[in-house]
Amino acid sequence: MARVLVTGGAGFIGSHLCERFIAEGNEVICVDNLLTGDRDNIAHLFASPRFTFLEQDITTYIYVSGPLDAILHFASPASPVDYLELPIQTLKVGSLGTHKALGLAREKKARILVASTSEVYGDPLIHPQKETYWGNVNPIGPRGVYDEAKRFLEAMTMAYMRTHGVETRIARIFNTYGPRMRMRDGRVVPNFICQALRNEPLTVYGDGSQTRSFCFVDDLVEGLVRLLWSDEKEPTNLGNPAEMTIMDFAVRIRALCGSRSEIVHKPLPVDDPKVRQPDISKAKRVLGWEPRMTLDDGLRPTIEWFRTRLQRS
Ligand SMILES: NC(=O)c1ccc[n+]([C@@H]2O[C@H](COP(=O)([O-])OP(=O)(O)OC[C@H]3O[C@@H](n4cnc5c(N)ncnc54)[C@H](O)[C@@H]3O)[C@@H](O)[C@H]2O)c1
Repeated sequence: MARVLVTGGAGFIGSHLCERFIAEGNEVICVDNLLTGDRDNIAHLFASPRFTFLEQDITTYIYVSGPLDAILHFASPASPVDYLELPIQTLKVGSLGTHKALGLAREKKARILVASTSEVYGDPLIHPQKETYWGNVNPIGPRGVYDEAKRFLEAMTMAYMRTHGVETRIARIFNTYGPRMRMRDGRVVPNFICQALRNEPLTVYGDGSQTRSFCFVDDLVEGLVRLLWSDEKEPTNLGNPAEMTIMDFAVRIRALCGSRSEIVHKPLPVDDPKVRQPDISKAKRVLGWEPRMTLDDGLRPTIEWFRTRLQRS
């Protein structure tokens, strides 16, 4: 049994991580200030004596008594709506929060996996994106607060590995979806599903020819767990390489929701990437990992989750 701390554990991905580690018989300490997370996401875990929740802002301190085997550092606003509304909190949690998490890993001699993002590649000039690509980021654009926070997170993590010998792992996570995303977090999956379920128009930004790839959260969690226990210290892409246009995605969701919604177009946001697709050859080689769920299989439980939420609201 391992003793594991998850920062951002009440968020979308963090709560699935907590659930997975509890299901495997580990002890989990979830630290979250509920900035964008929700206690409901972890409510079912409180019944376990191996689960502890600490409501704490990790940019000020993280105090945990006793030993720790692993830290999964997932605290950060993650959707564009959130980080555009919370630019300073996003920069602080990516920098100060990461520093605190790494300091704790050093003190406890725990290994640490930090959540980076495909956004470190910015609006990529090569496609698909391999880990060796350094990216094309606008540091002063509105999205820079998130992209640069995560680039700092990677730099700080590598510095702790090189300087203090901390066992660090860096996951570059690409778009992930699944139950427990928030209805109004502004990401394309909740947007389209909620609009389709309400039979409201589906809003596509630009002409919809920009591409994205979507990984189901259970697949991602499997990749994260493998990466954590692996020996790989350099960043590793985790995502689903099955790329599709936003327009095709809208049409697919509309069909799976059995919706009558029309599709309308709005102007593209500033610095919106035109293409986004992970090259996961390294994860396949080093972790023996690749996503297993088809898009339809992942969308069905996600749509059901949103349907229940909408009925309650
Ligand atoms: N969802 C994705 O597609 C995706 C893609 C790439 C990277 N990521 C990364 O994964 C992580 C989790 O993303 P998510 O989609 O679950 O987002 P989320 O907003 O659902 O979860 C983030 C959690 O962090 C908590 N948090 C934020 N600031 C905090 C602070 N100062 N102290 C303590 N807790 C704090 C929030 O309350 C929330 O519970 C983030 O670091 C994000 O950058 C997510």
